Amino acid sequence: MGKYIIAGNWKMNKLPSETYDFVKEVAEATKGASCEVVCCTPYVCLAPAVEAAKGTHVKIGAENLHFEDKGAFTGEVSADMLVDMGIQYVIIGHSERREYFAETDETVNKKVIKALEKGLIPIVCCGESLEQREAGITMDLITIQIKKAFANVSAADAKKIVVAYEPIWAIGTGKTATDEQAEEVCGAIRKVLASLYDNATANAITIQYGGSMNAGNCAGLLAKPNIDGGLIGGASLKSADFAVITGAAK
Ligand code: PGA
Repeated sequence: MGKYIIAGNWKMNKLPSETYDFVKEVAEATKGASCEVVCCTPYVCLAPAVEAAKGTHVKIGAENLHFEDKGAFTGEVSADMLVDMGIQYVIIGHSERREYFAETDETVNKKVIKALEKGLIPIVCCGESLEQREAGITMDLITIQIKKAFANVSAADAKKIVVAYEPIWAIGTGKTATDEQAEEVCGAIRKVLASLYDNATANAITIQYGGSMNAGNCAGLLAKPNIDGGLIGGASLKSADFAVITGAAK
């Protein structure tokens, strides 16, 4: 459906001093991949990451941004700052940011709109907790998350957005959603997008799965028709594992 994109989400791992060599290692290991390869790094690692990615196929992303252009927001980073550094992607609304940093569907939407305005590609995260899955409200919740994230986004801009479906119970737990569970929700997300826009727009949007995707389970997940890539946490910190995943995305 959408273009295959495999994005690493380093989270709060790796030092700036380790970044240049590691991105070079990723570039070497993932050479020849037929998908887009992205490393999303902590802010302080972005400069060496961009430097290392120069002249390679690897794209660099941030893990967050602020939705205002500039001003008195101590500790925050704007879209212009990221663009100025050569950043192309930005993760928005990761469940860890929703849980620990008061990210809401409203701030997610503001960040999506700002990222698009500045030419950054948003990777918008959605996903249910175990409690919500067991209560049978997974699709209700995800429908709301998607509708709110895409509010006031034109069809032309919607096609630029990457959606990452990440069931919270599968993140960092080693408990991956089954291929069928992941496909079911990713397919349902595409239907919500089709209802907001049209089939062609929905089909053009990359929908990733994330949550303990690794070298061992990626092939089955990525073979599903509605899974166009992955947002990879733990396995993105080892270039060989990450390369197996990028190799399976074709
Ligand atoms: P994980 O993280 O691959 O370590 O489960 C995925 C994510 O949170 O993006």
